Amino acid sequence: MAILKIARMGHPVLRRRADEVPDPTAPAIRALVADMVETLRDINGSGLAAPQVHIPLRVVIFHVPAHRAQADSLPRPEGMTALVNPVIEPLGDEREDGWEGCLSVPGMMGSVPRFRRIRYTGMTPEGARVEREADGFHARVVQHECDHLDGILYPQRMTDLSLLGFVEEMQKRFAEAAHADRD
Ligand code: NI
Repeated sequence: MAILKIARMGHPVLRRRADEVPDPTAPAIRALVADMVETLRDINGSGLAAPQVHIPLRVVIFHVPAHRAQADSLPRPEGMTALVNPVIEPLGDEREDGWEGCLSVPGMMGSVPRFRRIRYTGMTPEGARVEREADGFHARVVQHECDHLDGILYPQRMTDLSLLGFVEEMQKRFAEAAHADRD
């Protein structure tokens, strides 16, 4: 296993459509997923897509921490999910704004509209078919990671770029707003 180098915004691997994986259970895919899991744990993120580690294949991993899913109504998946060739279908037109960051856009965050509720399918590297419905944070992280497979980074989904900024600055603003609310 190895910790992999993360591609940053501007690298062409993040702009292209990633290729389908012909055999999701191939040993090379299992090895890739193991390295991606180790990389994500090292950097303490919620999700990672293979193009972010310079591999243009349709593979994502993600997890939904309990504290991030408190407002979600559908059940949260336990542990890390790895999906090969994932497909997303929005359930309804409803979208909601939420804050996102990305390991490929380090130090920044932005408010991104996403479908509130989705269904997604894919294969695990163990050969199991996954089909789930998700809402809230869970739906958001899946949409964010799958966008990477189509060469899309979250700022491209933003409708108000004034809500894109450096995490340090934005958190100061949130702290000030929270303080103002208390006054
Ligand atoms: Ni990302």
